[in-house]
Amino acid sequence: MNRFAMRVDRFLSNLPRFNRQQVRVLLVERRVSVDGVAVSDPHHEVREFSRVCVDAEVLQAGRAARYFMLHKPQGCVSATSEPQHRTVLDLLDEPDKDELHIAGRLDFNTTGLMLITNDGQWSRRLTQPQTKLPKVYLVQTEQDIGPHYAATFTAGVYFAFEDLTTQPADLQLLGPRTARLSIIEGRYHQVKRMFGHFNNKVTGLHRERMGPLVLDPSLAPGEYRALSEEEIRQV
Ligand code: URA
Repeated sequence: MNRFAMRVDRFLSNLPRFNRQQVRVLLVERRVSVDGVAVSDPHHEVREFSRVCVDAEVLQAGRAARYFMLHKPQGCVSATSEPQHRTVLDLLDEPDKDELHIAGRLDFNTTGLMLITNDGQWSRRLTQPQTKLPKVYLVQTEQDIGPHYAATFTAGVYFAFEDLTTQPADLQLLGPRTARLSIIEGRYHQVKRMFGHFNNKVTGLHRERMGPLVLDPSLAPGEYRALSEEEIRQV
């Protein structure tokens, strides 16, 4: 568990007012509730969104977790604030936008699936390379895509700046200058640099999918919607 999810006994004993013995007693006496349900299991998980009470006293108010899918248009920055340009958050008509963050940025002219949330644990599951969730891009290039690219992308491309080799990626040729590329990391300008390895410039880039979540085809560029319960659970 990370700082956004911790055991209820630890959550309580981290507060200056309770020591471990007192926490044990509170739990045994079932005086602690998480999201309205009395808990006695010290391992019960408390999240940043959980409402936690002891007797009638509220220790953490709890708040709603929010999740959105946006079709990012071209010419828009993946940042929460930027004085020069429109940002993806400017496209959202939602309260308390300062609570929200972007799960996996896209470049200024890249289009496609962008996920925006206030749930840090959820967005990390989507973006961390360890979870190996594929991020799938439709790529257009200036030059023809050679038959040897796929093997190089599977083996990994060396990025000198970070001194690392990219994780195995899957390339599917769709036309002479069009391909679908699936990567599990999100390094800075990763797709452009992978094609840059062959001196082939990316002229169009569109993210179709992140893990189980696919861009809703009914969303026009610039439009967004809330994720369904089912979509949230899939991550
Ligand atoms: N890789 C890139 O080079 N740019 C993006 O926007 C996303 C992935």
